[in-house]
Amino acid sequence: MATRRLCLVPCIFGLLLNALVGVTSGAELSFTLEPSDIIAVQEQPLMLHCQVDGIPPITTQWRRNGILLVDDQYYTMFHNGTLLIGRFQRTKSDGSTDEGDYECVGQNSFGLVVSRRARVQAATMAEFHVQPRSVRAEEAGVGRFQCQIHGLPEPAISWEKDGRSVDTKDERYTLLPTGVLQITGLRQEDSGVFCCVAHNSAGVKHSAGARLTVSVSQSSVYKEPMILVGPENLTLTVHQTAILECVATGYPRPIVSWSRLDGRPIGVEGIQVLGTGNLMITDVGVQHSGVYVCAANKPGTRVRRTAQGRLVVQAPAEFVQPPQSISRPVGTTAIFTCQAQGDPVPQLTWLKNGADPGAWRSRQAQEQQHHADHLWHQSGGRSHLPVHR
Ligand SMILES: *[C@@H]1O[C@H](CO)[C@@H](O)[C@H](O)[C@H]1NC(C)=O
Ligand SMILES: *[C@@H]1O[C@H](CO)[C@@H](O)[C@H](O)[C@H]1NC(C)=O
Repeated sequence: MATRRLCLVPCIFGLLLNALVGVTSGAELSFTLEPSDIIAVQEQPLMLHCQVDGIPPITTQWRRNGILLVDDQYYTMFHNGTLLIGRFQRTKSDGSTDEGDYECVGQNSFGLVVSRRARVQAATMAEFHVQPRSVRAEEAGVGRFQCQIHGLPEPAISWEKDGRSVDTKDERYTLLPTGVLQITGLRQEDSGVFCCVAHNSAGVKHSAGARLTVSVSQSSVYKEPMILVGPENLTLTVHQTAILECVATGYPRPIVSWSRLDGRPIGVEGIQVLGTGNLMITDVGVQHSGVYVCAANKPGTRVRRTAQGRLVVQAPAEFVQPPQSISRPVGTTAIFTCQAQGDPVPQLTWLKNGADPGAWRSRQAQEQQHHADHLWHQSGGRSHLPVHR
């Protein structure tokens, strides 16, 4: 009797201890800091940060495109988890690159976690793929110049007229965040050579010049309202800014108004009119998706022209229900549930100790004697992971 009791006490104590370790001190590893996407500047140092919380000792390592990095002439890994790339190079002498997807790996004796993938790209600036084109317009009409250039980060656009910055304080001049320059109520003195200037961390570029010629108009001759440029179809992600352009001409000057094709109100919050008729929606949400109609009306009449563009707002994936840690006796079933939302509907994948499901399944095949059997159930945005042993 006495010996049995002596045996029981440590056994129960052991179970309790296990439960306490599992519940209170968080045997699971978690990230308190994960690396974020970065646009790197050539030949400059670059740091990626990572911090893992859990039972020590914890080691952190880094992978680039899935391959473990070693501390060498290019990379320094600090004890606090930070990775330093001493001199970022898009193309190194050996043909390799520092660009890629970086992830941080945290490990202790309980397991291993892999951070989000941080995309590291070099700042770049291409050549202009849309150059401004020369225009002729009548006095009191509208002039519009456009230039387009790809770059990382997105280049900021400004304009020069005859070699000097255009005066955007003049309310006849509207510079849209898309880089388009509109000049309304044209005057003779607006004639000149316009050039667009693109600027980002990779450098500065000037476009070719384009001439604006303002001709004398036969004013007070009736001209039908006309839409010179209507809104484009746009696909954005939530929190971005939508610019819906609308440039109308005619005499008398037409009145520009906006509506939604579905009849729902456009609202006021975050909505701004730029220049004479462009619509700007800041911090877009999925509720802003829809077809927007720009109408140019001859004042005091029902004579109108319209143009329309579709705005699609997508929402990035977000966890609604992340999996919870569980303890189960041997021989029973464990089910992990994970739910995410987004637009389009996100796809879910599972990792075990940082390994992708393929590797994990093949490891399972070697553990046949345990009759391991993992099943995947997926239904309507939910993903269950039952584990039988
Ligand atoms: C980690 O240490 C390095 C070197 O001391 C430092 O530059 C870096 O900012 C640290 N990282 C964090 C996240 O504090
Ligand atoms: C926008 O998309 C619609 C179809 O949804 C298409 O008919 C129209 O031509 C597109 N407009 C532009 C400017 O591309």
